[in-house]
Amino acid sequence: SKTLRIGLLGLGVVGGGVVQVLAKEKEKLQKQTGVAISIDKALVRPGEDKSAMAAKYGFTLTTDFDALVEDESLDVIIELIGKVHPAKEFIEAALRHGKHVVTANKDLIAQHGVSLNALAKENKVSLFYEASVAGGIPILRTLTNNYLADEITDVMGIVNGTTNYMLTKMFEEHLSYQAALEKAQALGFAESDPTNDVDGIDAAYKMVILSQFAYGMDVTMDDLEIEGIRSLTELDVYAAKELGYEIKLIGRAKKYDQQIAVSVGPTLVHASHPIASIKNEFNGIFIESSGIHQSMFYGPGAGALPTATSVLSDVVAIAKNKALKLEAPLFNQFSLPTALANDEQ
Ligand code: HSE
Repeated sequence: SKTLRIGLLGLGVVGGGVVQVLAKEKEKLQKQTGVAISIDKALVRPGEDKSAMAAKYGFTLTTDFDALVEDESLDVIIELIGKVHPAKEFIEAALRHGKHVVTANKDLIAQHGVSLNALAKENKVSLFYEASVAGGIPILRTLTNNYLADEITDVMGIVNGTTNYMLTKMFEEHLSYQAALEKAQALGFAESDPTNDVDGIDAAYKMVILSQFAYGMDVTMDDLEIEGIRSLTELDVYAAKELGYEIKLIGRAKKYDQQIAVSVGPTLVHASHPIASIKNEFNGIFIESSGIHQSMFYGPGAGALPTATSVLSDVVAIAKNKALKLEAPLFNQFSLPTALANDEQ
């Protein structure tokens, strides 16, 4: 029977989650896809001791990326180390070695997704990144599948959990910006350096990727107008509340004729709008389109199990392609495949 062999880069919170969720769902996944999915190797940092996990789940550890990527038995590389470098170089090497790649790395994909997708296509492998946007919400695959026969006119997203948590606390408990930030940090939502969250950069990364999928356009960070929540006070939030509004950090990609305007910024949302119901660290994406009309997707934007489940949904897509013997993948991308390898036969 067929086996899909995985090399996992990074055994942190999400990497550990992937190992755990795969172990739990392994049999069902094999039954449903016809392919056994196996994590064979994991890359850790020098000095990082993950031997107990490796022994428990039956994979080997290495600190040598070059050796891992040259291992011909591996079909898939899952990158969960985050940030742009060396993740970019690792993914490029994996694609060049003919390996499918799954990543949750929004910073990297938002900035280099176009060239990485081109490299994947050139090497006839998949590059999937469902978990890079809104963690557990299955939004990218939904856009590539369910919205293909639709025309999207507006995407409004709460795609940063840290700031949504802070704004919720400022709205509900009248906390100051600083108190809300400290609470978010204490709960582990915000990083010790929360710059990318509060300045809207993290949301902008996700909106770049969402816009590409929603509109099939090569949107880049430079195309966005970005404003964070740093200068908001509890008085602003309170004044809005008195008028029946909440302030949310909204990422928006709206179509005007043939143009798309993409922005991130604090936005007044009326209490009656579905997006006002997205509280605390949760994410939500509200879509208007000509066919489906209105829909909203709600869920956790981060966390080990939601993100790991999303990562594994990409692995499942690769397993299904393998079961179908598709040499070239069904591209999970805004530029759709011109032809699949087995169409040409
Ligand atoms: N810092 C991000 C957030 C984590 O708060 O949403 C998930 O990308």
